[in-house]
Amino acid sequence: MRGVVAAWLERIYLAPGTQPRQEDARKIDELTALLPELRAAVNQQPRALTIVDAASGLSYAALATAELVLAPAQRRAHVILIERDPRLAARAREAASRISAPGCTVEVRTGDVADATLWPAAPDLVLALHACGAASDRVLDAALAASARRLLLVPCCTGVGVDAEAGARAAAGALGIPRHAAVRRSFIEAWVAAERTQRLEAGGMQTEVVEFCPKAVTPYNLLWRARRVREPGRMAAARAELARLQQPREEPR
Ligand SMILES: C[S@@+](CC[C@H](N)C(=O)[O-])C[C@H]1O[C@@H](n2cnc3c(N)ncnc32)[C@H](O)[C@@H]1O
Repeated sequence: MRGVVAAWLERIYLAPGTQPRQEDARKIDELTALLPELRAAVNQQPRALTIVDAASGLSYAALATAELVLAPAQRRAHVILIERDPRLAARAREAASRISAPGCTVEVRTGDVADATLWPAAPDLVLALHACGAASDRVLDAALAASARRLLLVPCCTGVGVDAEAGARAAAGALGIPRHAAVRRSFIEAWVAAERTQRLEAGGMQTEVVEFCPKAVTPYNLLWRARRVREPGRMAAARAELARLQQPREEPR
């Protein structure tokens, strides 16, 4: 499968005759690992699909889904890319013009993922790969608000500005987590991951979190695989856990 993905990526994204660079090779590895997830997510939905690639950048994931998963199965889809950088949006549009997926239309919407007017109602699948910092939180909120049926979310860095970051720091202090950077970082990353998971569950998504590729491919290798089930008991339990996570804490002096 890696060979297929490599040939595809080179054809769509690299100038003819260009050798893939190290970051291209990593992208190929990442896409190869992701493809079964993409296939499973679309296969469980039999009809014509609406897919959103949020914080899409060049939209490797959605365009690969269109050409390598949907087109061979003669499936139809409307693929919406949301990207705030107009130059990347233009490059994604060019890349989309090179794919061969007759049943798929690709629309690029330039703007912020937090802008609800850019989102379609009830998309079948939302992809968000490496949405920087708080952009992952905004995608998560927007996907819930739009009643997305499925979400595949691979967050990126857990820096300042991420929703749960201040709470995580306060909890680290209150619980006596040592200040050693590596220990604190792991704690904060776990806290942010927990808060996002409970937020999805509280919003009605049955959620799994898996390592979808080795850390050598990308250090941000956690995939949130979420499916809208709207099960009241499950949502209430997650709301209670979320409230426990989010309760105000003060760092001891
Ligand atoms: C690390 S790149 C990942 C791009 C692509 N998803 C991928 O995996 O190759 C993050 C992208 O998110 C975009 N981005 C970050 N915050 C955003 C926001 N709030 N709204 C829309 N796009 C955003 C950036 O411009 C950038 O293209």
